[in-house]
Amino acid sequence: MGAGIAEVFARAGFNVIGVEIDQAAVDRGRAHVDKSLSRAVSKGKLTEEERAGIDARLTFTTSREDLADADFVVEAVPERMDIKKDVFSDLDRICPPGTILATNTSSLSVTEIAALTGRPDKVVGLHFFNPAPVMKLVEVITTVSTSEETVDLVSEVAKRIGKTPVTAGDRAGFVANALLVPYINDAVRLYERKVATREEIDSAVQKAAGLPMGPLTLADLVGLDVCLAVMDVLWEEYRDPRYAASPLMRRMVAAGRLGRKSGQGFYAGTDEAPEPRP
Ligand code: 3HC
Repeated sequence: MGAGIAEVFARAGFNVIGVEIDQAAVDRGRAHVDKSLSRAVSKGKLTEEERAGIDARLTFTTSREDLADADFVVEAVPERMDIKKDVFSDLDRICPPGTILATNTSSLSVTEIAALTGRPDKVVGLHFFNPAPVMKLVEVITTVSTSEETVDLVSEVAKRIGKTPVTAGDRAGFVANALLVPYINDAVRLYERKVATREEIDSAVQKAAGLPMGPLTLADLVGLDVCLAVMDVLWEEYRDPRYAASPLMRRMVAAGRLGRKSGQGFYAGTDEAPEPRP
């Protein structure tokens, strides 16, 4: 999602530095943005001149130290607390004391991340939805320590990048994922129990509720690993059986079938890999 978020800020006129783990990730990030911008140009939604402006505002690096002058940082590293902790300790050291540090976590505690820094009042969750350039919602996740000034500023920034901010407290799943991911999990359970085929499950829900895509297609888009992480955090927080992850979801993640990002999921990559056996 990092590349999508970087694109959103650059399109809104901000100078953006995208920090990636290595050169291969830089190349992937740049290619992702290039593809999205080319699509917008070919559809006449962006002029070549506007595209050149966006390209000029967006640079990539592999060094976190390049964020020494950043006013606002959005972290979008994998959903592992040890990695988040490493990143936030570095950001707290590298960035000026006034810099706002936001995490795009979809499942981890923003409070725990904020507490690692010397500026917990300036740390929030800024939760984007897939695909980040398209989906309008961003959740602004506050903790017991977040200041009013930070919430106001982050909500203002969210509006400037064309998003609709919704403020939510730091509870497992926040608002959207607390509802959306158990729904995806329930769809995986239906598939697992062979109640219907993947196409029938998706088509039924899509047509019944007028949604843009069915739950198993959405699982492939979001990433099975992300869905599983959200389910596990909901389970940890509430110990409610309705938040128990489907065994198939867990097995698919163990098998590396993560959805579009790995080329294999419920649908993706089915030329090379068969439909998952429930
Ligand atoms: N990057 C950038 N732009 C993209 C894109 C991508 N990956 N995918 C689609 N788009 C753009 C297209 O260019 C097009 O733009 P335009 O309207 O300006 O021409 C627009 O989105 C519509 O795309 P398409 O016509 O190709 O396809 P669809 O109409 O089928 O839309 C979709 C695709 C936007 C993905 C739509 O199916 C959708 O909204 N699906 C639901 C997505 C959803 O629910 N996301 C939330 C997931 S939960 C989450 O992310 C939280 C996390 O923490 C787990």
